[in-house]
Amino acid sequence: MMTKNTFEKFEEINKIAELGGGEAGIEKQKKAGKQTARERIEMLLDAGTFVEIDKFVLHNSTNYNMDKNRIPGDGVVTGHGKIDNRLVYVYAYDFTVYGGSLSRTNANKIVKIQKLSLKNGAPIIALNDSGGARIQEGVMALSGYSEIFYHNIKASGVVPQLSAILGPCAGGACYSPALTDFIFMVKEKSYMFVTGPDVVKAVTHEEVSKEELGGAATHSSKSGVAHFMGESEEDTLMMIRELLSFLPSNNMEDAPIVPTSDDIRRESEKLQTLIPQDPNMPYDIKELIEEVVDDKYFFEVMGSFAPNIVIGFARMGGKTVGIVANQPAFLAGVLDIDASDKAARFIRLCDCFDIPIITFEDVPGFLPGCDQEHHGIIRHGAKIVYAYVEATVPKITVITRKAYGGAYIVMSSKESGSDVNFAYPSAEIAVMGAQGAVNILYRNSKDDEKQTALDEYNELFSNPYRAAELGYIDEIILPKDTRFKLIQALEMTQNKTETNPPKKHGNMPL
Ligand code: HXC
Repeated sequence: MMTKNTFEKFEEINKIAELGGGEAGIEKQKKAGKQTARERIEMLLDAGTFVEIDKFVLHNSTNYNMDKNRIPGDGVVTGHGKIDNRLVYVYAYDFTVYGGSLSRTNANKIVKIQKLSLKNGAPIIALNDSGGARIQEGVMALSGYSEIFYHNIKASGVVPQLSAILGPCAGGACYSPALTDFIFMVKEKSYMFVTGPDVVKAVTHEEVSKEELGGAATHSSKSGVAHFMGESEEDTLMMIRELLSFLPSNNMEDAPIVPTSDDIRRESEKLQTLIPQDPNMPYDIKELIEEVVDDKYFFEVMGSFAPNIVIGFARMGGKTVGIVANQPAFLAGVLDIDASDKAARFIRLCDCFDIPIITFEDVPGFLPGCDQEHHGIIRHGAKIVYAYVEATVPKITVITRKAYGGAYIVMSSKESGSDVNFAYPSAEIAVMGAQGAVNILYRNSKDDEKQTALDEYNELFSNPYRAAELGYIDEIILPKDTRFKLIQALEMTQNKTETNPPKKHGNMPL
């Protein structure tokens, strides 16, 4: 029979575990403007749903008198709970315990819930705040990372994996997030780098701050490592909740349906005039997207990186769709290396989780120049078409204006496997723009001959009719009808079954 003493002992260990690195560590954490691991989990999950696992696990290292300081839980809080009443697994590094560093023992805790998430088909969320491998443990800590990465990769495409960076994320700690589907960072509070400013200075003689080297702004706009940047921890965690609302729990389920009162037949007069008559005038493709989707709500992903292409989630008739759109308001929507990488990865994400893809196309072509060629625009640009062709989810394309050259092909053209291809009457579908074509074909002609050739080319190609005559465009539609036309196409393709030929895996250009 239990005595009072056994309960007291349990309460005592429980209290020690919940204090992590202790009052002083918590105070330091707060001073740095950060929440504790447990507070973060509370904020993230539906109230009262968190179930902690392995709360009393202790490390077993004896180096550097480590056996004298063993804190129950060992610096990572792991378990499961609910978000919008759906099961999720979660783990949070506790920076107050050895700087949230990874030990062999707390790696075992993480691996345990990685396995549970895979076996039970529910998303896994990592809240990172860590100095990397626990230095005192040497190779044991490295082996912990190896095993976490192994499970990240095995779970890729099976369950959504999300990583929030809420403090430092140094060295080995970077690569688990990098292997997950989405990375969230907090403005001016989090940073990720493989080697910190001191090592950078010693090796390359560059002087750089932590923020500049690997802060949220850097990774959201320059490196493309991070997908979202929150204003605060709370804002960041709320974004995770929202993103999950667009995703299924695993690759065998559908994303949740969110009923809407937005009429599926809603027409938009605004769309009739959004696209300027002058093909050289920009417009904001996000305005077009918002006019079309449920409740005019578009959840953009990687908004600050490669803004010449726009990606994100929305709903049509209550169902999640992934959107890929050229952005004429930035660099005329041209495709470059970063835009190619950004789009290709998102297309694959949608395909993993059975989310139909809608493509809005207005693209003058690939960006010319030595910089792009020498950094491999051929290899990177190839990823977009590879990802589209490989994707077996419903694919619907709307050409709003320019669809020139290779860019026409790679942006989900009919012949590269798109299911439904629409064009607005303003579409221009050709090998290149009129001026460029005339400069090549009539290089040695007089100006008046060139003008005649220009008019002739415009007549021939600066419209969607030639492509429609050939069946490359299924239907020419009025912009105001886009929403209903897309929903009809989504309904028509919702039971689509397509499989790729049997193979171990393809060899995507990387
Ligand atoms: C053990 C660590 C630690 C680590 C920090 N601590 N990092 N303990 N192993 N990796 C401890 C500190 O000793 C300190 O203990 C406490 O955590 C808080 O750290 P501070 O330095 O006081 O905090 P702060 O000033 O905020 O700096 C945070 C930091 C810094 C930038 C993360 O601690 C740091 O640079 N840590 C080392 C980062 C690193 O190089 N990690 C190894 C990467 S290599 P006390 O007792 O003083 O409170 C790696 C290999 C794997 O990860 C590669 C696989 C691909």
